[in-house]
Amino acid sequence: MKILVTGSTGQLGSEIKNLEKFYPHYKFVFMDRTLMPLDDINKVWEVLESEQPDYIINAGAYTAVDKAESEEELADMVNHQCVRVLGVWSEKNKAHLIHVSTDYVFDGTSSLPLTEEAQTAPINVYGNTKMKGEVALMTVHHDAIVIRTSWVYSIYGNNFVKTMCRLMQERESINVVLDQIGSPTYAADLASTIMQIINGNIWKGGIYHYSNEGEISWYDFTRKIKEIKGFECDVNPINSSDFPTSAKRPAYSLLDKSKIKKEYNINVSQWDESLRIMLAKL
Ligand SMILES: NC(=O)c1ccc[n+]([C@@H]2O[C@H](COP(=O)([O-])OP(=O)(O)OC[C@H]3O[C@@H](n4cnc5c(N)ncnc54)[C@H](OP(=O)(O)O)[C@@H]3O)[C@@H](O)[C@H]2O)c1
Repeated sequence: MKILVTGSTGQLGSEIKNLEKFYPHYKFVFMDRTLMPLDDINKVWEVLESEQPDYIINAGAYTAVDKAESEEELADMVNHQCVRVLGVWSEKNKAHLIHVSTDYVFDGTSSLPLTEEAQTAPINVYGNTKMKGEVALMTVHHDAIVIRTSWVYSIYGNNFVKTMCRLMQERESINVVLDQIGSPTYAADLASTIMQIINGNIWKGGIYHYSNEGEISWYDFTRKIKEIKGFECDVNPINSSDFPTSAKRPAYSLLDKSKIKKEYNINVSQWDESLRIMLAKL
């Protein structure tokens, strides 16, 4: 069985690569942007025709949330049009497809954990392109799996945890947003979950939510990073309005994980336990 992984240089792609050795019965093909440019749908089709994967993990995405506000066409190509093409090819060739989406498909006005049925209403371009990708995929593929996740971090690439570590080393004090609530996701945990689904003997298509367990703000997240690493830097809470960004972010986007836990028997780690594991590797 062959598993093709897009976006292999990203956080999730890199963590899936780390798991390859535990699954010797699968042949993995890892596609970076040169091998499989996700903004070139003809090339994407060509690669799929040549590789003929049994499973596709779409770990690639246009993830620059603020930049997407001024690069909508490119973000839409990667996060929407390309996802449709992956779906059409997979449906035609009876391949299983796991696509990854985001909590930014929600507007953040809920005050309760969001289930898979909650109304989507993205408030930024990135979220809108990801929502369109989900809808397109569900239209063209009868049993694709979409996993929405949130606040992804890892030892790879650029992410909030690595940025906070750097800033807390460089500065005496930093300001961090208190009024955005959600839960972080250690990319290694998400990668294990995806491989557990592929390697299991159940396949139930549909949308699933996955993040680590817990409900925190970016401020709480930073305080915990500071505590674990023993940084001396002062961490001050601020409101989103004091930290303007090009793209708006949902104020509340905590994902309800009940469905994935029930359907796939997934054990979800606490956010601070996973953070400790990641920081020990950094
Ligand atoms: N990061 C988050 O906080 C977050 C939150 C919620 C959901 N998600 C979703 O989780 C999934 C994995 O995210 P991640 O954090 O692993 O993302 P990431 O680290 O930004 O990786 C994205 C990957 O996509 C590739 N890529 C981007 N544009 C491409 C293009 N035009 N052609 C080919 N490859 C392209 C990147 O290649 P390069 O390395 O060459 O740029 C990289 O390998 C994505 O679907 C994302 O939308 C992420």
